[in-house]
Amino acid sequence: MTSKMTSTWGLAALALAWVQPATAQPVNAGQQFYQKVCAKCHEAGIGPVITGRGLPEITYITIARNGNRAMPAFRVTDIDDATLQQLAAYLASTPVKNP
Ligand code: HEC
Repeated sequence: MTSKMTSTWGLAALALAWVQPATAQPVNAGQQFYQKVCAKCHEAGIGPVITGRGLPEITYITIARNGNRAMPAFRVTDIDDATLQQLAAYLASTPVKNP
């Protein structure tokens, strides 16, 4: 009885330890690019917050490629199409905080 409970808690702790770093660390090149480049403005009060906004992928792709007023444009030599697609999919999937 006691040993069964202990192993259940052990499993729960293992599951938590597994899940937490996965959400905090970048998982692909797109997410990494966001954290290294976009976040320098977008999580520093220079640009508006762009996570958890419920914006569609095409918005991120279009604005990143073309720029928008104070927002610089990113060429294909800055970020290739595949990475930008990953970045857009990641940002579009961030949970909306204030629906
Ligand atoms: C040099 C700072 C800077 C960097 C780097 C930057 N942005 Fe921006 N971004 C801005 C600013 C400033 C605005 C607001 C532009 C305006 O409306 O005048 C903006 C606006 C946006 C918007 C529109 C948000 C809205 O609410 O209208 C999106 C989407 C966006 N940026 C995506 C990105 C992505 C994706 C990246 C990385 C590839 C990125 N930005 C990198 C400064 C930056």
